[in-house]
Parts: sequence; structure tokens; C-alpha cells
Amino acid sequence: MIPFMPHTSTNYIILQSQTIYMKFFIDTANLAQIQEANDLGILDGVTTNPSLMAKEGIRGTEAINNHYKTICEMVDGPVSAEVLSTTFDEIIAEGQKLAQIHENIVVKVPMIKDGIKAIKWFTDNGISTNCTLVFSAGQAILAAKAGATFVSPFIGRIDDSSWDGVQLIEQITNIYNAQGYMTEVLAASIRNPLHIVRCAEAGADVCTCPLNSILGLLKHPLTDIGLAQFLNDAKSMQ
Ligand code: E4P
Repeated sequence: MIPFMPHTSTNYIILQSQTIYMKFFIDTANLAQIQEANDLGILDGVTTNPSLMAKEGIRGTEAINNHYKTICEMVDGPVSAEVLSTTFDEIIAEGQKLAQIHENIVVKVPMIKDGIKAIKWFTDNGISTNCTLVFSAGQAILAAKAGATFVSPFIGRIDDSSWDGVQLIEQITNIYNAQGYMTEVLAASIRNPLHIVRCAEAGADVCTCPLNSILGLLKHPLTDIGLAQFLNDAKSMQ
């Protein structure tokens, strides 16, 4: 698996010397939350979807494009922008426009028949893609075969239907490693810090998380108790 590179970049890949570790994306269109995560210094990218954009009250093509541009200028990494079209010609037209907003835009395409055809077309034309709404290993194989840059299995929604979403991450990672697929496994629909830990264990390339789940990784009661004690004891040194 290779790290994301902007689609207009002339970067080259040195697989052997690359340090591979799980990247952190934030899963929101909220600018304040993106800024807060970016200020932590651990943010590698952003994913959005139509529900997240609508939640921020963004309406109309110009406002949508401006919002994506703002996010791209805030964060130095891939920013997934989802197409709203569902037919091949329309996905291509919409995706090309999205890709023109900024070199870090990744065109997010749903896992449907025309979506797979479109991902193949984008791949052949140097446009990065994120295949979204993935719920099975079979879908992930198709996305990789079409050349998707990222594949997004929705682990929280799988858990909601009483299956184990992280097991799917493990299965896809194993398949991609066995077959040599270059597509990065982007664990999506994260609901809590434990999801992030388990995705790291399962070998996900990327975890896209709500801000609360990222901040949840910081928390441990023994850290709070220990720090309070250290600060209290330190008073005697002054
Ligand atoms: C990200 O790319 C997905 O759209 C998102 O993680 C879905 O999350 P949800 O299941 O919490 O809506």
C-alpha cells in the first residue's frame, strides 16, 4: 500500500524506504473541529460526506466548493469531497469539477456499478478517489481492482447491525496484502476511541474519526490522578 499523493503531483514512490503508519483523518465538515484537530499536530487529512456538509448548513455549488477549498487550505493532506451524482457521465463531470478545486481533493464515489466504472476512469485520468459506503470484502476487492486510492468500510454502521466492523478491516487488509493491491484501507464510521485502537491493530492505513473519538484517546483517569498528585507534590519544591 502506498501513501496518498496529490493527483497533480509528480511525486514518485520509494516503497522500501517509506515508513508506514496509520494516518488520522477527521470526519467532519465543521471548520472549528478541523482546526482543533489540526492544531494537535496529528492530522493527516479530512473526510466529508453530504450529511456532514448539510449539517454545517452549506447550500449551493459555490458555497460547497468554497467550503472544500477552505478545508484544503487549512489541512495539508487529502480532503474527500463526495459526488452527489449516481450515473457514470454525471459522476465524471462532477468529480472533475471537484478535483479542480484543489490538488488535495479526493473524489469520493459510492460503491455502485457506475461508481466503480467512474473510479476506473478517474484512476486512468490521474484523479484520486475514495470508494465509500463499503460493507463487504467483495466490494473492497472491486474498488481496489478499479484503482481506488482509498476504500472506506463503514465499521460503526456494521457494528450497529450486530456484526464486527473491525473484522472487516482486518479481512480487507489481509486480502490487499495478499494480492498486492495499492488501495489504502480507510476505516470510516468510527464511533469511539476503541474503534481507533482496534483499527490500528487490524492494520488500517487510515482511520477517519470524529473529533470526540480522537480526543477520547487522550483520556485515562490514572493520568488525571497522577498529574494532580505530581502538581500537588511539586508545590513543596517551591
Ligand atoms: C466517512 O467517510 C463516512 O462518510 C463517515 O465516516 C460515515 O460515518 P457515520 O456512519 O457515523 O455517518
